[in-house]
Amino acid sequence: MPKLLIASLSLLATTVALTGCGGEVPDTHPDQPVSKRRAVFKEFTRTLEPMGLVARDRQPYQAASFLEQAQALKKLSAQPWPLFTTDSNYPPTKANAKVWQQPGEFKVAQEQFQQAVDELAQAAAGSDLERIRTSVNNVQKSCKACHDTYRKDR
Ligand code: HEC
Repeated sequence: MPKLLIASLSLLATTVALTGCGGEVPDTHPDQPVSKRRAVFKEFTRTLEPMGLVARDRQPYQAASFLEQAQALKKLSAQPWPLFTTDSNYPPTKANAKVWQQPGEFKVAQEQFQQAVDELAQAAAGSDLERIRTSVNNVQKSCKACHDTYRKDR
């Protein structure tokens, strides 16, 4: 093997070892609040997605499973916020500085989101598909509104 190639391969191996296999900075905080809240947010997406498909008529509406999904989202909806501890603004977070600079406003965004999710859970307990659609849209808007202000661009 040419020397240069060997050198660049070992450099690559070092880089991978330093950053973890995802090519990302590892979470070295003993309590790992960043990793924990990101795991909850991924769960948000997984839980909301099938309801989004129903709201856009891409999946048939089935009352029982829809209600289960809405209740699962409601349970999750309170979980990320206590994980935004004052000492948790460190890489690899994608939260931006406003989370810590404007905690009052950030809290309002959380409350608006939880209200939207509560309304979705109530709509899901009935069978008014129009109300359900509107509620899903409002939850999605609420996710986006918070990201637009408090999450870094990728
Ligand atoms: C009140 C603000 C807020 C709301 C509401 C919110 N998010 Fe987020 N979300 C954030 C912040 C801040 C981050 C960045 C977290 C970090 O990297 O530390 C984030 C990160 C994420 C991520 C990336 C996770 C990762 O692996 O890096 C996903 C996916 C996500 N949110 C989905 C959602 C979905 C879906 C909803 C609505 C059901 C939602 N979020 C509602 C603030 C919010």
